[in-house]
Amino acid sequence: MAKKSEEAHKGREQWKTRIGLVLAMAANAIGIGNFLRFPVQCASHGGGAFMIPYFIAFLLLGIPLMWVEWAIGRFGGRHGHGTTPGMFHYLWKHPLAKYLGAIGIFLPLGILIYYNYIVSWTLAYSVFSLTGKYFAVPNHAGMVDFLAAFQGKVANAYFGDYTTALIFLFITIALLTWVLSRGVVQGIEALATWGVPVTFIIGFLLIWRIATLGTPDPAFPERSVINGLGFMWNPNFKALADSKVWLAATGQIFFTLSVGFGCIQTYASYVKAKDDIVLSGLSTVATNEFSEVIIGGFIAIPVTVAFFGIMETQRIAESGAFDLGFCAMPLIFQRLPAGQIFGTLWFFLLFIAGLLSSIALAQPLMAFLQDELKVSRRNAALITGGLATFLAIPVVVFLKHGFLDEMDFWLGTFGVVGFSIIELILFVWIFGSEKAWKEILLGADIKIPRFFFFAIKYVTPAYLSLLLFFWFFQDGLKIMFMRGVASENFPYIWFARFLMTALFLVIIVLVRIAWQRHRRTAHHKVSS
Ligand code: ALA
Repeated sequence: MAKKSEEAHKGREQWKTRIGLVLAMAANAIGIGNFLRFPVQCASHGGGAFMIPYFIAFLLLGIPLMWVEWAIGRFGGRHGHGTTPGMFHYLWKHPLAKYLGAIGIFLPLGILIYYNYIVSWTLAYSVFSLTGKYFAVPNHAGMVDFLAAFQGKVANAYFGDYTTALIFLFITIALLTWVLSRGVVQGIEALATWGVPVTFIIGFLLIWRIATLGTPDPAFPERSVINGLGFMWNPNFKALADSKVWLAATGQIFFTLSVGFGCIQTYASYVKAKDDIVLSGLSTVATNEFSEVIIGGFIAIPVTVAFFGIMETQRIAESGAFDLGFCAMPLIFQRLPAGQIFGTLWFFLLFIAGLLSSIALAQPLMAFLQDELKVSRRNAALITGGLATFLAIPVVVFLKHGFLDEMDFWLGTFGVVGFSIIELILFVWIFGSEKAWKEILLGADIKIPRFFFFAIKYVTPAYLSLLLFFWFFQDGLKIMFMRGVASENFPYIWFARFLMTALFLVIIVLVRIAWQRHRRTAHHKVSS
C-alpha cells in the first residue's frame, strides 16, 4: 500500500520548503477580501462586536475546515490526485463520489472568472495612481462615474467603454498563466515567497503613513485617525441580536480563508506524504488573520474617517467594498502628500494579494488536467488561462446587469458552504471520524485538543447546515426568484445561471472521461 502511494506521488511536484508551503497557503488565503471586504463587513456590522461572531466562526468553522481540507488534500496527493474528484473517490468507494468532487473544480474555476476580473481593476488603478489619471476627478460622485466608465457601465469623458478594463484583464490573465506554467515550486512558491512579505511591508508603510496623519483638516477636528479607529473598532453589542451580523461574519471567514473553495485541497496535495499539516495549517491561518485584522483593519476605514468624517464613511461602507476601495481611497490619495506613490502602493498591494489568490483558484483545474487527463503543464496553463479569459468576457460585458453578483452568490456564498458540508460528511462520516482524525494528526508537530474532534464531527456540520438554511431563506429565495431585480436584467441573470450550469456539466463530463481512461489503463496493466 505504502509502495503504491509512493508510486502515485511520483511525478507530482512537492513544495520545496516548509516556509514556502506556509507562504503559498497564506497567499492562497490573503486577498482582496482581507483589505477591502473585511473592513467594510466589520464597520457595517457592529464594529468591534463583529469580532465576536467572527472569532466564533473562525474557531468552529474556519480552523476545523482548514485542517479537514489540508488532510483531504495531503491524502489525495499520496494517491496521485490533486483535486477533489480523485480525493473523494478514495474517501468513498462509490461511483457518485468523483462527481461530487467535480464541485471542487467547478467552484474555484467559477469564482476565478469574476474574482480575477476584480484583481485586474487593482492593477489598473495602480497604474492610474502612478500616472495621476484620476487625480483631477473632483469629488466622490466623480470617482463613482470614473469607476463606472472604467467598468463600461456608462460612457463619459474618462472612458468610452470597457476597452481599458479588458486590456488590464488580459495582462492579469497573461501573468496568471505564466506563473501557472512555471509550476508549483518555480511559479507559485517562488511568487508567494516574495509576494506575501511585500504585501506586509506595503501594509505597514501605509499604516505608518495613516498613523502619522493626525487630523488632516484642522477645520474638522473630529475627523481624525483616532476617531476612525474608534468607528472601526468600538463595539456595538446590540448588533449581535441581528442574524445578518452572524451570517456576514461567517461569510467573511469562508471568503478570507478560502475554505470550501476546493483550492486548499489542491495546494495540500503537494505536501510530502507524512509532513505535518496541523502546525503549518495554523501558521497559515494566523498569517491570514494578522493581515486581515491588523493590516486590513487599520487602513481603509480609519483613513476614510480621517478625511471624510464618520457619517460619510458610514455611507461609503454601506455602499460596499468597491466604493471604499476604488472611489473613496483614490480621493484620499489626491489629498495625501506623495499620494501618487501611496496610491500606487495600495493598489499594488491589492494586486499582488489578489493575483496570488487567483492563482490558487486556478490551480485545481491545472491539477485536474495534469493528474487526471495527463495534459502537460504548459498546455494545462494555456487551457486554464484561455478559459479564464473566454469565460470572463460576459462578466465584463454584462457587469451592469448583475452578472458578477449572481455568480458570486451561487458560487462564493452558497456554493462554498454547500461544498464544505459535502466534504465534511464524506471525510468524517463516511470515511470515518477516527480515521479522519488520525489522518489529520499524521506527522503533526503539535497536539490538537480533543475538542476539535467533536467540533469536526458534530459542531461544524451542524453550524454549516444551519447557516445554509438561514442563507437560503434570507437571501437564497430572494435571489433565486430575482426579487427586486429590474426586469431588463432577467435575461442576463439567466445567462449567468446557464453559464454556471454548462460549466459544471462540462466538468462532470471531463471527470467521466478521466475515469474511463483510468479504468482502461488499469485494465491494460492487469492484462499485460
Ligand atoms: N481568500 C481570498 C480573499 O480573501 C479569496 O480575497
